[in-house]
Amino acid sequence: MDGDSVVNKDRIIIFDTTLRDGEQSPGATLNVHEKLEIARQLSRLGVDVCEAGFPIASPGDFDAVRQIAEEIGPLTEGREDGVPMTIAGLARANKEDIQRAFDAVNAAPKHRIHTFLATSDIHLNHKLKMDREECIDQVIEAVSFAKTLCDDIEFSPEDAGRSDPQFLVQVLGEAIKAGATTLNIPDTVGYTTPEEFGWLIKYLIENTPGADKVVWSTHCHNDLGLATANTLAGIENGARQVEVTINGIGERAGNTSLEEVVMAISTRPQHFDVETKIDTTQITRTSRMVSSYTGMVIQPNKAIVGANAFAHESGIHQDGMLKNNLTYEIMRPETVGLNASKLVMGKLSGRSGFRARLEEMGYDNLSKEDLNAAFERFKRLADKKKMVTDADLEAIIADEIYQPPEIWKLNHIQVSCGDHSMPTASVSLTGPNEKEYKDAALGSGPVDAVYQAINRIIGVRNRLTEFSINAVTEGIDAQAETTIRIQSLNDEDRTSFNPQTGESFDRTFSGHGASTDIVVASARAYLSALNKLLAAREESASVVNIN
Ligand code: KIV
Ligand code: ZN
Repeated sequence: MDGDSVVNKDRIIIFDTTLRDGEQSPGATLNVHEKLEIARQLSRLGVDVCEAGFPIASPGDFDAVRQIAEEIGPLTEGREDGVPMTIAGLARANKEDIQRAFDAVNAAPKHRIHTFLATSDIHLNHKLKMDREECIDQVIEAVSFAKTLCDDIEFSPEDAGRSDPQFLVQVLGEAIKAGATTLNIPDTVGYTTPEEFGWLIKYLIENTPGADKVVWSTHCHNDLGLATANTLAGIENGARQVEVTINGIGERAGNTSLEEVVMAISTRPQHFDVETKIDTTQITRTSRMVSSYTGMVIQPNKAIVGANAFAHESGIHQDGMLKNNLTYEIMRPETVGLNASKLVMGKLSGRSGFRARLEEMGYDNLSKEDLNAAFERFKRLADKKKMVTDADLEAIIADEIYQPPEIWKLNHIQVSCGDHSMPTASVSLTGPNEKEYKDAALGSGPVDAVYQAINRIIGVRNRLTEFSINAVTEGIDAQAETTIRIQSLNDEDRTSFNPQTGESFDRTFSGHGASTDIVVASARAYLSALNKLLAAREESASVVNIN
């Protein structure tokens, strides 16, 4: 096993793009409040650079980035070195995008413009319809213009993984001359292998004129499941910034996951001669927050943050663990903020004990209203369930607090079902005007009947595209956590901008809910998704089309 006695290590800059590339995952749409909360948590986690969004994409994106720059940009609380996060905004390589990105991030004490242009022949010929010379000219113009606005400039040659390395040397050399301070090498389509990607980083650092004046960065996608391996190969070959997302979310198969890279570096200190400033005890909390807000469920066997990542099922393993946890455990769960304690509280626990427990779990900045709402839920749960565990508290927090503003509220539902009757549901909701609405419907099952009744009241045409239900803890009295996705079928919602393709598409919204009753959990999840859809409809009424 590795020890931890290595000194004078190079620092790896953690550039988190959960709010930009991560939000490009289908259905991961986040509202401004959710983006602010995630950015606040990224700051607490110790992220160095937070790519807050793509400001030109829509007025909503611009406002979200600007608010993050203003409110989260100055924060230093809980950060090991007392230095605030740099807030970055993405821009295509043109003046309008770059100006917009600058206007959005400018309020942050530390801010960065991140501009990109594709360099592979496939992208140049088919997407941009431009030759190599035109590409170089555009990079020089874009980076030079960005440099007139701010000092901290990152340039990315999109699809570098499939670009001609000699051409990359030319483009990147010009980007350095024009003022770029970070050069990020994206494997946009997750095509390379670790050996190839490591080689590319080394080749570029050795051959690009002025390479020693800039920070070299990796940005790997996970199409072949190699993103983390490629990123680590990049580090071994001289990269000192890594672009990552929480839980590895992102376009298609996602981006490199922050937690995997950070824990590989910290678990194998003799192997990786570098360090990060991440507070690893914040990893689990950040992961759950991102999963709840985006509706992207974490696979149980996901490294570091999956539900089974620290579970030992087989008898042989359990026996070994009881004798010495080094037998089957390379990291302690506490290192990533996973609390070993199972039994937390019962129905006699009071408000201050409840708050203290939440604070120990890292929820130390809940508002009074959120704390009260969570406490009420805890009391109701403790009446039904003998033992309330940390996992139950996490589910309550996710259900009460990581939710969109409630345009429609669930009052109550009643269902009748069975193998000899038509599933029937009656539902009572409170609408935006504080009026109560009631309706009833039949369905193919109890959940369908509830959803039909809600549809009759709210009347938003949509398709349910995903439905998953998990038990939060073991036992018959366990809470169920439901996560769903719906796709709007209304033309007015058919919009969302993808910076790489410029396409618009039907928007997908996720929702989640928890309860000891699976039908109630499902109803809460559906309302959560519908509330997101309705809130986004207002925001997207003013989306700019930029093609
Ligand atoms: O994957 C990619 O190429 C990107 C760039 C915009 C950096 O996300
Ligand atoms: Zn990307």
